Amino acid sequence: MTHPAGTTEPLAYPMRRTCPFSVPEGYAELREHPTVGRVELPTGALAWAVTRYEDVRTMLADNRFSSDLRHPGFPLLMEHQRPAPEFSTSLVGMDPPDHTLARRAVAGDFTYRRMNRLRPRIQEIVDEHVERLLAGPRPADLVSAFANPVPLMAICELIGVPFEDRDFFLRISSTVMNATSADEGARAMRELMEYMDALVTSKEKEPTDDVLGRLAARPGEPGVPGHRDMVGMAFMLLMAGHETPANVLGLGAMLLLERPEVLEELRGDPSRMPAAVDELLRYFTIAEIGNSRVALEDVELGGVTIRAGEGVLGLTVGANRDPARFQDPDRFDIARSDQGHVSFGYGSHQCLGQHLARIELEVAFTTLFARIPGLRLAVPMDTLRFKDEHINYGLHALPVTW
Ligand code: HEM
Repeated sequence: MTHPAGTTEPLAYPMRRTCPFSVPEGYAELREHPTVGRVELPTGALAWAVTRYEDVRTMLADNRFSSDLRHPGFPLLMEHQRPAPEFSTSLVGMDPPDHTLARRAVAGDFTYRRMNRLRPRIQEIVDEHVERLLAGPRPADLVSAFANPVPLMAICELIGVPFEDRDFFLRISSTVMNATSADEGARAMRELMEYMDALVTSKEKEPTDDVLGRLAARPGEPGVPGHRDMVGMAFMLLMAGHETPANVLGLGAMLLLERPEVLEELRGDPSRMPAAVDELLRYFTIAEIGNSRVALEDVELGGVTIRAGEGVLGLTVGANRDPARFQDPDRFDIARSDQGHVSFGYGSHQCLGQHLARIELEVAFTTLFARIPGLRLAVPMDTLRFKDEHINYGLHALPVTW
């Protein structure tokens, strides 16, 4: 049945999580509404909010919904996030057939087998950071000392940042993410883009055995980006692959420290860690607004007609807590049998880095809790500050001691 658009007052989006372990209450309201609901974005624009598991998957598998951020109807939290028409949006912002070709050109670099080859290096990176943590002062901030730098170092491995450049790369990437003024952010961004440009040039001259190097060795092949787009891809990989695992690391450590019985189970049987990581990914669903689209034509979805040009948010946060799909969805349960969360998205844009992310999280949690058995929160839970209105949910800091 088709309901006319806008039959109820739109809810304001984004919505805050009132408890760090729960999803915003408004999601249940949207899900129970007889149709896909309407929300109002901070820009004043209206968008459709899809929160039911089946509707989110249907939407993300439908190519009539575009990922092109440059489209004037694409739902953004802030208008300044809309790239200029000439901006290279790399994979995340592309539609078929360009996306299909570009994705095919790199997919082989992100298979489980290929990512698993990075596991020994990821283990070394994690070991180094745990050692540094142990040698440093107590209490320590697990986010800045561990959760942030480990995935950043993994990206260095993935795209082949030479060892001698790593300190610079870490410093400048962190400034881009955490700049306190627009000026500082813009300066760091310029420096980072110049660095990426020089990195791609060096790979073109002398291809190395990493994602950029392997692409640079195949110029002119279908889907293989030219120089400028390869710089865009390097930047996109950094953006997509750094903060996301960092947030799950921080939130996951917080949850496991608060649930000693689960931690004991995991210490006793580390083979359960992949299932625990999967449940953490579902439970927190940190990519708040990572699955947005704009309709290219009129589409019927969840009982409404979405008109061409209207924005749609695929709220995987709601989908992953949908009681129609997950039994007792608000319970954290590492023995859950109903898997199939959509934290990495769904359909043709499904996260390319998901194997890498899982490996990082498995290695990091296993090593952290094995090497520091006395690890505990250094402050009460209710004093922690969460990234409530960010694109990705996470913790600003996690003071710990041991
Ligand atoms: C816990 C960690 C992560 C989460 C929750 C996550 C989540 C997501 C989601 C939801 C999408 C789909 C966006 C859409 O449909 O529009 C996505 C796409 C993507 N992710 Fe991740 N991601 C994570 C880690 C990573 C890592 C480590 C990398 C790379 C090193 C990465 C690279 C990408 C890329 C390249 C895409 C775009 C794929 C395409 O458009 O074809 N992600 N991710």
